[in-house]
Amino acid sequence: MGASDTELAKLRAAKKAFDIVANLKPAIIGVGTGSTVDRFVELIPASSDADVFSNAIFVCASLYTMYRIKELGYTVAIPSTIDRIDVYVDGADEVDGELNMVKGGGGASTLEKVLTYASLKRIYIVDYTKLVPRLCYRHPIPIEVLPEALSIVYRKLTELNLNPVIRRGCGGKHGFVVSDTRGVIVDIKPTNVTDFRKLERTLKMIPGVVEVGLFIDLADTVIVGYPDRVEILHKSPSNTVYEPFKYY
Ligand code: A5P
Repeated sequence: MGASDTELAKLRAAKKAFDIVANLKPAIIGVGTGSTVDRFVELIPASSDADVFSNAIFVCASLYTMYRIKELGYTVAIPSTIDRIDVYVDGADEVDGELNMVKGGGGASTLEKVLTYASLKRIYIVDYTKLVPRLCYRHPIPIEVLPEALSIVYRKLTELNLNPVIRRGCGGKHGFVVSDTRGVIVDIKPTNVTDFRKLERTLKMIPGVVEVGLFIDLADTVIVGYPDRVEILHKSPSNTVYEPFKYY
């Protein structure tokens, strides 16, 4: 299976998500970030050409996604003005058998987590290569760190044997990657960790850690794209802020 297979798989997952969201006719739509989300955004017609989301307000987890949706002519709200989202669509770096996820490969996991937490329905779109037997199988766990706390947090992560690496930009960004929420991204690669809930709690107790790219119990639907089909995986999250919609 080559790169074009994963591209086709991403597109299939995005199309399925688009159909589901269009059918729900949500008032407030949350959109994450990443290459799979890009496929989803590309399916949204310009607001002048169609009425599918004509009355919807969008709220986005990155400036990039926000900009693209605004260019399509839709109303885009800044996250600080929104406390409840009807449907949220995002990608993921890894998904385990309980639909727990690693996110933040694109450096945007803090706002992604905030938006998904406020969402009634959370749909994740991934290609089949993102399914893993356990979290942190292939992908490190991104942590967003307050810039002023970088050295202190880095030392603590080292003491915890989490093999931290401060993420550096490539191409158009020299030096450290700074997120849309102005944090430095540190990728950790724990070995021998099986309790990721406990790891998340431990990390969030470190002052200066803004957010952790572990998404435990935060997905209720994962659409997995394959080159020739999609599979829809469901879970009822135990810690939803609101009662999820029972649409299907
Ligand atoms: C952004 O920071 C991430 O959480 C993305 O959702 C994740 O990295 C998936 O991105 P791709 O769809 O590009 O694989």
